[in-house]
Amino acid sequence: MQIYHSPLDLQVTAWKWRSQGVNVGLVPTMGYLHQGHVSLMKHARDRANKVIVSLFVNPTQFGPNEDLSRYPRDFEHDVAVAEQAGVDVLFAPTPLDMYDDGSPVWVDVPDMALRLCGKTRPTHFRGVTTVVTKLLMLAMPQFAVFGEKDWQQLQILRRMVSALNIPVELIGCPIVREADGLALSSRNVNLAAEERRQAVNIYAGLTMAATRVADGVTDVSQLVADVQAYYERSMSLGRIDYLEVFHPFTLQPLASITGPARIAAAVFFEKARLIDNMALNNDLLSDPA
Ligand code: PAJ
Repeated sequence: MQIYHSPLDLQVTAWKWRSQGVNVGLVPTMGYLHQGHVSLMKHARDRANKVIVSLFVNPTQFGPNEDLSRYPRDFEHDVAVAEQAGVDVLFAPTPLDMYDDGSPVWVDVPDMALRLCGKTRPTHFRGVTTVVTKLLMLAMPQFAVFGEKDWQQLQILRRMVSALNIPVELIGCPIVREADGLALSSRNVNLAAEERRQAVNIYAGLTMAATRVADGVTDVSQLVADVQAYYERSMSLGRIDYLEVFHPFTLQPLASITGPARIAAAVFFEKARLIDNMALNNDLLSDPA
C-alpha cells in the first residue's frame, strides 16, 4: 500500500490510471477506521482494480462549537486496517494541503443540506460536498463508496454528482452495527459507559417504528411521538436533536407513510452526537442506485 500526503501526488497517479483505463474505486473517510469503513473498502476491493481510501478529518464540515479537536485519530491503526483490507493507496493530506488561504469556494446543495442534521449543523454538508468534490477531482475514480449510516450525506452527494455532471458512480452500503444494534461510529469512543448502554435505544426506537409501519401504521405524528417518548424514557443521558420521517431521496418530511419512507434520529450525549436511520417500508426500494 502506498501512502500519499500530497494532493498532487495522488492526482498524478490517478491520472495515469485513468488514462490506462484502470477501474478505480474511492472510499472517503475521516479515519479512526472501524468495521463500517472496512465494509466499504471490501465492497470497493471486490469491484475495482485499484482502491483509494482517503483519510482526512475535514475541518470545513465541523461547526465552530463542534468536536473537531476531539475527533478521534489513530494514524498507525488506520494504516494497518487499510493495508489489511487490501487498499492500494491511502491518501492522508493535512488541512493545509487541501485548503489554500485564498477566497473560499463552496459546493453546496442548500435545500437538502438544511434539513435533518442541517438544522443544528447548518454549514456541515457544504463542507462535505466541497471536500468530496475535491477528492473526486484528485482521485478521478469510476465509483465511490459511502455508507447508508450517513443517509442524508449520501442523498446530497447523489444530487451533487447528478447536478454537476460528475462522471462517477456512487454506491451506498448498508449500516454495520454492534451486536446490540448500535451503529458503528468513530464517535462511539467518546461515550461514557452508561451513555453507551443507553445509546442502543436509538436503534431500538427505529426498529420499533419500522415494526409499527410493517403492522400498518401510516400516521407519522403518532409514530414519531411514540418513538420520542421511548427515547425520553430510555435515554436519560441523551438529548434528542431530531427524529423525523422523510422521503428517502428528496429528504422532504412526510405526514403519512404511503410509499418509500425513512426514519432518522440524532441524539446528543455529553461528548458525542450520534445518528442512525432505517427504511420504514422494507418491501420498497430504499436507495436509488
Ligand atoms: P466518516 O464518518 O469517517 O465515514 C466515512 C464513510 O464510512 C461514510 O460513507 C460513512 O457513511 C461510512 N460509515 C460510517 N459508519 C458506518 C457504519 N456503521 N456502517 C456503514 N458505513 C459507515 O462520512 C464521513 O467520514 C465524511 O463526511 C466524508 C464523506 C469522508 C467527507 O469528509
